[in-house]
Amino acid sequence: MQILNGNEVSQQLRNQIKTEVESLIIQGKKRPHLAAILVGNDGASMTYVSAKAKDCKEVGFDSTVLHFDENITEIELLKQVDSINNNPDIDGLIVQLPLPKHINEKKITEAINYRKDVDGFHPMNVGYMFKGLPCYLPATPFGIIKLLEYYQIETSGKHCVVIGRSDIVGKPASILMLQKNCTVSICHSKTKNMHHFTSTADIIIAAVGIPEFLKADMVKPGCIIIDVGITRVEDATSKSGYRLKGDVDFASCAEVAEAITPVPGGVGPMTRVGLLLNTLHAAKN
Ligand code: GUN
Repeated sequence: MQILNGNEVSQQLRNQIKTEVESLIIQGKKRPHLAAILVGNDGASMTYVSAKAKDCKEVGFDSTVLHFDENITEIELLKQVDSINNNPDIDGLIVQLPLPKHINEKKITEAINYRKDVDGFHPMNVGYMFKGLPCYLPATPFGIIKLLEYYQIETSGKHCVVIGRSDIVGKPASILMLQKNCTVSICHSKTKNMHHFTSTADIIIAAVGIPEFLKADMVKPGCIIIDVGITRVEDATSKSGYRLKGDVDFASCAEVAEAITPVPGGVGPMTRVGLLLNTLHAAKN
């Protein structure tokens, strides 16, 4: 059984990005610059945004975090997005989700200039992705593809089962695996007899958000398991008071899988590097 080590692979990619930034600077070009909008004080969102800023620093990007009160109006937020759209110094913009209930996420996502949409959430980028044209891919599916490519995992003709149909992970991951010549099944909360699908899968991408959802008796021996889940579960023995759990029962699945991603240290760091790759690309364009 092989551990698909997202920490190690993402570190190699970050080193490559850093070298590219240094060469941009030598050529007299500007540093890539990522802006992140954060609304409110949700603990997980604050952690994600500060991790993204830290990643930028490591590879030599500039980053700006615009942190607004949770009572900011939709109109004001749209103005802020517009101002970044028109700021030539900023190459990429992400608006950390979820947003407070009084703000329409669709409206905000669609207000971002798609050429700066390094999250790949804008319908223009979704459409380009669907057609296999150059675009910004959503960071998690992008990171998963990079991980599979790094470990030279054969995808052509394989049965890939994606569990979850979110706009951010499940749907785009399905399209990308299809483009890599997989036969793709998408399972979700209404799927009948999930076991039927998972037990015939060569590759499983689990993105349901239910800790330890996928058990060893649901998978075929020798399959490849990609665990996208990161749920915080209370753990009094840990310093932070919680522990991260994936969607896969790692202990049992690792016994039967040919390769598996750990949580943490699997898909998470690959997602983070996916955003950096998109930002580098935005700056070069
Ligand atoms: N919230 C959860 N995941 C993401 C992400 O990839 N991008 C943004 N902007 N918000 C998120």
